[in-house]
Amino acid sequence: MTEQDFIPKTYSKSIEKGSVTWASPSNIALVKYWGKKKNQIPENPSISFTLNNCKTTTTLHFSKKENQDSFSFDVFLDGDKKDDFKPKIETFFKRIEVYLPFLKDYHFTIGTSNTFPHSSGIASSASGMSALAMCLMSVEKMLSPETTTDYFNKKASFLARLGSGSACRSVEGDLIVWGEHKAIEGSSDLFGTKYPYDVHENFKNYQDTILLVDKGEKQVSSTVGHNLMHNHSFAEQRFKQANENLSKLIDVFKSGDIFAFIEIIESEALTLHAMMMTSLPYFILMKPNTLEIINKIWQFRQNTGLPVSFTLDAGANVHVLYPEKDASEILEFIKNELVVYCQNGHYICDIIGFGAKQL
Ligand code: DP6
Repeated sequence: MTEQDFIPKTYSKSIEKGSVTWASPSNIALVKYWGKKKNQIPENPSISFTLNNCKTTTTLHFSKKENQDSFSFDVFLDGDKKDDFKPKIETFFKRIEVYLPFLKDYHFTIGTSNTFPHSSGIASSASGMSALAMCLMSVEKMLSPETTTDYFNKKASFLARLGSGSACRSVEGDLIVWGEHKAIEGSSDLFGTKYPYDVHENFKNYQDTILLVDKGEKQVSSTVGHNLMHNHSFAEQRFKQANENLSKLIDVFKSGDIFAFIEIIESEALTLHAMMMTSLPYFILMKPNTLEIINKIWQFRQNTGLPVSFTLDAGANVHVLYPEKDASEILEFIKNELVVYCQNGHYICDIIGFGAKQL
């Protein structure tokens, strides 16, 4: 498919007003997206677990308006008007207008809420942008009821990507690939797709306990970080490595070798942060407690042989990943030894999920 396939020709219905609600989850990358080309095209393919409990619920009210010269919308978070969210949504609308030509025909009221605290340091862009993309696709489906589910999901992911790259991996679950990879059939730079091959039982219901080490605003946004991969000394090698790690994961998912899985995902997490530390300007998003937690995880794994592991996103929080069958022992360890490193003792227990749902 190409971008052109997402430009609608005509709509068969017209509609005055309505509303729609979607809940969409966050996701955690195992092979990381870090570095992008023009129009939100990733430099390398990535793969993620869709989450279940960390999600955004968005209700979109729409009503026809007279003037069709500009976008018109209001945004609310937990019922409070949020004008500071508007520039990001305005940019998003501009980027997707050609694919959703009805955007200027309506006034939109966007009401959103997250299951995780806004100031948790958990990025809400993946769940937030995917929830909004799902709502907009529901409007398009009302205008064009013949839209198939396959097209709906692909276009929702395509639109979400234009809001925030990682958001395109939140539309479906449980394991989503985004970015063309030669060994993964159907993989695309334009949208996320379900991982198409065998996945061993060991990876079903995988657990993700998110340790909230630092709830502050990040000093460097992901968007700035991605841009620092341009002219980065290690960029080419890094993009190649991500492709190789994804190739290796294909065998690992099939065989169920959790320790091989751990080696790949922990290396991916540390490589992501190594890219930040070696860009110009350089920066560090990990905090001392991030490192304390990583060391504790390694010690516990060595002492017990239990397959507990970590990954990081672009921040100080630690995602502790482990299989369901060892959940009780590992959760005990987390509570006894890791929660002390969390800001105000806060952590979130999550599990692999299956994508966005209409409410
Ligand atoms: C480290 O998707 O937040 O979490 O496309 O600029 O919105 P933009 O970036 P974003 O980047 C996520 C980076 C990451 C890795 C990942 O999720 O793959």
